[in-house]
Amino acid sequence: MYDARRDLLAREIQSQCRGKLKRDEPLAKHTTFGLGGAADLFFSPADLGDLAIAVPLIKDAGLPIFPLGGGTNTLVRDSGFRGLVISLTTGARRIEIGDDEGVIQAGASTQVVSRQCQRAGKTGLEFGCGIPGTIGGAIWGNAGAWGGETMDCVNWLRGIDLRTSREIYLEQSDISFGYRHTDLPDDLLIVEAGFRLAEGDPKTIAAEMDRMLSERKSTQPLSNRSSGCIFKNPPGHSAGALIDSAGCKGMAIGAVKVSDVHANFMVNLGGHSTEDVLALIARVQKRVFQVHKIELETEVGILGE
Ligand code: EPU
Repeated sequence: MYDARRDLLAREIQSQCRGKLKRDEPLAKHTTFGLGGAADLFFSPADLGDLAIAVPLIKDAGLPIFPLGGGTNTLVRDSGFRGLVISLTTGARRIEIGDDEGVIQAGASTQVVSRQCQRAGKTGLEFGCGIPGTIGGAIWGNAGAWGGETMDCVNWLRGIDLRTSREIYLEQSDISFGYRHTDLPDDLLIVEAGFRLAEGDPKTIAAEMDRMLSERKSTQPLSNRSSGCIFKNPPGHSAGALIDSAGCKGMAIGAVKVSDVHANFMVNLGGHSTEDVLALIARVQKRVFQVHKIELETEVGILGE
């Protein structure tokens, strides 16, 4: 019954849409950690028109749906995902930079957007120059760095409610957000957003970006596969400093290790198991609690059964 539903949906999407539909797609290929089992179905619409055709079909099939951004903050369990993943990284990544606003599709790379704004002499999004992942993911999790936060710059967003196929339009003031958090629902597929920009000097912006990038290079383990910071900073503390002073640097399970460079990063040194990451997360949480009496909360989300 279940497989029949999945196969029917796959055939419907393939016959009506122009985008790519893959079956049993390994999500390890789509996460920066390089880990995770397969998704039953993986759909990359060709463009927003294609997406509009697919969403009602997906909704009617009743399979679980997961909108995946750049896979930078998602840990996919080894058992994979018994549903359909939607990815906008090929079909919706247009960047239009206007005078005081950039209209950016959700699948655009945050780093590319940041660089294009710099080249166009627009200031506001330079903090995104070192943040991997997509604009959709950056909005959903309110990604930030060097004092900048994505949601601070969002004027409005458009998306699709995947439960009803309805279009959604939200202004920044409709959205509640804070450090690494928004109240946007899991079944909202962010499609595009308007970002506040201001006039700036391309050279000055580039210099600021260079400073951020070199700081990042010297403090974060960029040559290894990772999910960025694993834990949120607890109020008034740095998770990295807490983990470091609890003696967790170098702690490892399988080929997953707490980075020697920055303790809030876990690096994948060639492993194949997300369960190792999850076990290491639990071990670090336990040690930090024993030493500091502080509970660390993960920044990364977990997908799969
Ligand atoms: N520290 C240690 N040991 C470590 C790591 C850090 O003692 O192993 C100390 C540092 O010396 C510093 C303090 O902890 O005094 C804070 O470290 P850092 O400046 O690296 O900043 P962070 O709070 O760990 C945050 C974001 C990063 C972002 C940087 C730069 C979080 C969880 N992390 O890191 O974001 O790139 O600031 O703005 O908010 C991410 O979210 O994935 C991420 C990488």
